[in-house]
Amino acid sequence: MNYKIAEVAAVAKELKAKFNRTEDKRSLLREPELLALYERLKTMPAAGRAEFGREVNQLKRELEQIIQEASDARTTEKKPIDVTAPFDVNTKPEDRPKLLPAEQASRHPLTSEMQIILDIFARMGFTAVESRELDDDYHMFGSLNFPEDHPARDDYDTFVTDEGLIAPAHTSTMQNRVLKAHKKELEDGKPIAVVIPGRVFRNEDVDATHEHTLYQVEGVYVDKGVHAGHLMATLKTFLEEYYGQELEVKTQPFYFPFTEPSFEFALSCPFCQKKGCSICKHSGWIELLGCGMIHPNVLKEGDIDPAKYTGFAWGMGTMRLVMMKYGIEDIRHFQSGNLKFLRQFS
Ligand code: DAH
Repeated sequence: MNYKIAEVAAVAKELKAKFNRTEDKRSLLREPELLALYERLKTMPAAGRAEFGREVNQLKRELEQIIQEASDARTTEKKPIDVTAPFDVNTKPEDRPKLLPAEQASRHPLTSEMQIILDIFARMGFTAVESRELDDDYHMFGSLNFPEDHPARDDYDTFVTDEGLIAPAHTSTMQNRVLKAHKKELEDGKPIAVVIPGRVFRNEDVDATHEHTLYQVEGVYVDKGVHAGHLMATLKTFLEEYYGQELEVKTQPFYFPFTEPSFEFALSCPFCQKKGCSICKHSGWIELLGCGMIHPNVLKEGDIDPAKYTGFAWGMGTMRLVMMKYGIEDIRHFQSGNLKFLRQFS
């Protein structure tokens, strides 16, 4: 708004500048500059008084209007919600969920069992390295002797990101990295002995025995003169230690592109000692894992000469292992967050 009277125009300019600076916008109407204009009006000679009064009132109305607009804008302005912020930022104390006291918390059974599993393998001379939860086509397939467009790839229905990365369907994705990382030690006369715990993902219809998110422990062992007898002995020793009892084991032929020969490995049911129960579907045997002698192409791809060295590998489902130890009948319990289930292991 333009004011004709210079004195009023100067005060208008001054007050608008103050308006931008002050937090309490309403205090503008009590500023001494404005009050001084009203004081002046009282003592002014009649000539020009009406016009002066009109301009001062106009200024007051303009100020009231901008104050009102600022207050409207403030109340309608939507505050951003930071979904990553802790509760105290977004939620009043009375609306916050009642959190469990820390002293009632306990380790998830898969975490504590994984520790037991890794400890046993450590005592057998294996080091551990965790697998990745996002990997690429080469480590999922190419490095593991899956030819391009080979139907064996269809056995692994993976989740893929828009960028072409893969949520791995098995921990075998790490084999190539492990072989390359330990090549030097192998040449210095030390065997490669590594276990790889990890989380893997599959496009599965979920039911009592199938999950989309699973836990595996992969094993890789390479040295001179390694044969299938070493593989059987290693797995048998591990399982007997884990279940605390003597077990029988057996294999049957299977197919994996990354092992030759490949086996499906079964153990006598540790739950019923082969008498037959619901866990082993009354067969006395549990098919537990896939394993075999590492394929020469996989060794070559890991820069290891298959004419000099041989090795074995396995991939074991941890949930299955734990289910059999405790007689857990439904794999979905693990990821249900059900406290009744979890507290049995605390
Ligand atoms: N990666 C296989 C799977 O998850 C399991 C497996 C089989 C792993 C044989 C191995 C192996 O290392 O040698 O289906």
